[in-house]
Amino acid sequence: MRESHVNTSEQAPTQNQALLDWVEEVRGHCDPETVHWCDGTREEADRLFAEMVDKGHAVRLNPEKRPNSYLFRSDPRDVARVESRTYICSIAKDDAGPTNNWEDPTRMIDRLQPLFEGCMRGRTMYVIPFSMGPIGSPISQIGIEITDSPYVVVNMRIMTRVGDPVLEALGPDGFFVRCVHSVGVPLVDGQEDVPWPCDPENTCIAHFPEKRLIWSYGSGYGGNALLGKKCFALRIASVMARDNDWLAEHMLILGVENPEGRKAYVTAAFPSACGKTNFAMLIPPREMKGWKVTTVGDDIAWLKPGPDGRLRAINPEAGFFGVAPGTSESTNPMAMASCSRDTIFTNCALTDDGDVWWEEMTDAPPNHLIDWKGEDWTPECGRLAAHPNSRFTAPAENCPIMDEAWEDPAGVEVGAMIFGGRRMTEIPLVYQAFNWQHGVYLGATMGSEQTAAAEGKVGSFRRDPFAMLPFCGYNMGEYFIHWLKMGKKIKDPPRIFHVNWFRRDEEGNYLWPGFGQNMRVLRWIVARVYGQGHSVETPIGWMPRYEDLDWRGNDFTEEQWDELMAIDRDGLKLSTLGHEELFLKLFDRLPKELIFERELLIARF
Ligand code: GTP
Ligand code: SPV
Ligand code: MN
Repeated sequence: MRESHVNTSEQAPTQNQALLDWVEEVRGHCDPETVHWCDGTREEADRLFAEMVDKGHAVRLNPEKRPNSYLFRSDPRDVARVESRTYICSIAKDDAGPTNNWEDPTRMIDRLQPLFEGCMRGRTMYVIPFSMGPIGSPISQIGIEITDSPYVVVNMRIMTRVGDPVLEALGPDGFFVRCVHSVGVPLVDGQEDVPWPCDPENTCIAHFPEKRLIWSYGSGYGGNALLGKKCFALRIASVMARDNDWLAEHMLILGVENPEGRKAYVTAAFPSACGKTNFAMLIPPREMKGWKVTTVGDDIAWLKPGPDGRLRAINPEAGFFGVAPGTSESTNPMAMASCSRDTIFTNCALTDDGDVWWEEMTDAPPNHLIDWKGEDWTPECGRLAAHPNSRFTAPAENCPIMDEAWEDPAGVEVGAMIFGGRRMTEIPLVYQAFNWQHGVYLGATMGSEQTAAAEGKVGSFRRDPFAMLPFCGYNMGEYFIHWLKMGKKIKDPPRIFHVNWFRRDEEGNYLWPGFGQNMRVLRWIVARVYGQGHSVETPIGWMPRYEDLDWRGNDFTEEQWDELMAIDRDGLKLSTLGHEELFLKLFDRLPKELIFERELLIARF
């Protein structure tokens, strides 16, 4: 424990002058009561949890049911990412591009300055040194988050690697990404704290890509506040990746081993709450003996060509910030194991015996709960017990199927990349791109129905290129160009696929059972990577036939398959015109290769 009141440099555990100066500068503006340098130890986390439980800001769960775990209830106005208040403040507006909110960096600083002035009065300012990726990996990066939220500190300790080894790796003059966060509720004149301080009216999440700097104000929730995640590992890192020939993507990473022991690694980009955690932890159906899936990451991948030129990936995170509702022993037993202990739950319901519950966790709900708003709940009351975007923060090391190489500093070699979204109609279960350029076109034209992971209308359709619409820190047209360029830099680039687990019939029923059954699709994908699986050429790509999948233990019929895989040429031709909407917006930076791909696609129809 290290506290300092006067001059942070007195007891600061670093000689890095740039860091010391910056912490001092932020302290000067925010004016906290004390400064605490986090060491990332269990003792430190235990002390913070104890303080939060004492104040009534957290519930300690029954240690027999859920050891070392806590429940937090947020302010009901602060439950998800706020894309409308997220800004890319590049010097030129064009560099943020038409898909991002932009503000001039100087004007943004002018707007933030008064908000941050004195915003930490009466609170502790925590300094969190963290590493995104295994410390010492050539793909990893260091960040420092300054925050006045102890909830953020305990979450960051699970989601990233925090503590003194990070400062050692940083050294006296190492580079770090600067992340400043405040809940925006100073405690002045003896004002009592509230369980979840936040300032929704003034919430603002500002990124300064040229300065590798993030200022986040007013929200304590997930991607708004755990700045290592979306703000750094995607928005700022995507800019760093563009500048240095790598990729920062909203992708899970998994390993697939066949019965002969041959292993391939696969990444997949699905939009928020579209099944990355589930797919990353897939348990193959019992009948597919000898097939094994292992987890490297469930949300973010950093990808870089290795010494031999082949693409390698690391998971920059150390934990899962997973969607709770829908997670169960039948849909995702490995996620259930991951959050069985040492876990922070946010906006889940509390059971009478001190455990958590959420919709679809069990077949029948408990007879009584305290819901995510802290109110009594019964199955008849007609309200959701857990918020649809309620989440668990669980350490990756709790997951029983973590890949043996998940912390390998060299990363894992990627054989295939998958794109997908929630598509009620039109889009078949799986198809393969003809080549890298066609794959980039598939990524660029992705779309999905929106989920509760951000504000906005759940279920409404939007284009979400590469599942990066809310996370690309620069011009989306430029990003497409970068992807095309990377295809030329990577030796033997990964094969690219598109999947859709969410196609429905006319009554609205899912046509595909999903979850563990997705292994049948993954098996075909891996076979294609090995140059083995059979397929037929269609206008949209290569597709498997019914007989090309392993159906042991599944009574899925050929008729069902035909409905699931149907290509409605006229319908698809029409919706290809819908790609125009995004392409027109990006007109001045849109690579001509994507226009060619669209022309080729229309010609194939
Ligand atoms: P973020 O953490 O927000 O980036 O999302 P994620 O992509 O990791 O989402 P997650 O895996 O937690 O998916 C959440 C939702 O998708 C849950 O409601 C699941 O039930 C649903 N889901 C996941 N896989 C499948 C599937 O194969 N089929 C169907 N029908 N639903 C699925
Ligand atoms: C997402 O929304 O894609 C998430 C959750 O992974 S959050 O960290 O809140 O952005
Ligand atoms: Mn995500």
